[in-house]
Amino acid sequence: ENHLQVAIDGPAGAGKSTIARIVADKLGLYYLDTGAMYRSVAYKALASGISLQDEKAVTGLARIIDIRLSHNDRQTVFCDGEDVTSKIRDVEVSRAVSLIASYPGVRNRLVELQRQEALKGNIVMDGRDIGTYVLPDAGIKIFLTASASERARRRYLENIKEGKMVSLEEIRSDIEKRDVVDSQRKFAPLKPAKDAVILDTTGLTIDEVVAKIIRIIREG
Ligand code: C5P
Repeated sequence: ENHLQVAIDGPAGAGKSTIARIVADKLGLYYLDTGAMYRSVAYKALASGISLQDEKAVTGLARIIDIRLSHNDRQTVFCDGEDVTSKIRDVEVSRAVSLIASYPGVRNRLVELQRQEALKGNIVMDGRDIGTYVLPDAGIKIFLTASASERARRRYLENIKEGKMVSLEEIRSDIEKRDVVDSQRKFAPLKPAKDAVILDTTGLTIDEVVAKIIRIIREG
């Protein structure tokens, strides 16, 4: 594979999608938010009344669900024809997603779609297992982190902008729970790839992080 592949992984709220989107924009690369795909499956399970604990049913759902992520600047997400862009960011979905993302059958299906996207051209992909599992041969692997309180604070400010009222404490506890489930699952857990550059973004601005990543990509 001679396409440029940039894998950006890290815990919840580290700023992966914000950063990945800007980097992709500046360098003219495709961008794929893999978290939005897991969120879509979680949303659909909740909306269709499928029990999240029912691994078979959720896996069956993941196999037939039609997820479309537009590459426009709004990053619209369509799920079986429905615009779910903002719904997949709801707290209910955030609380449900890590469980369904631990099911191997769900992951196999979404990883297949993710690898297909990567065949289209140069791409930035963000998630939890991109450098370790989805694109193990990616030329650039970044593991973005930040302190838990900084990550919670960023999410909190993001929510306020969107008019969502969730307390800082609740957000912090939600993202910590999600990180525990994501790093402890058996199949493709959250962890830095051996050859990833670890970037702690605590105290850095978005522009500073983007500049660092672009430098890493340019230096190859
Ligand atoms: O990136 P985001 O926070 O939107 O991801 C939501 C959830 O989807 C994560 O907490 C994780 O459970 C799951 N996920 C995953 N693998 C990925 C991307 C997301 O398991 N590559």
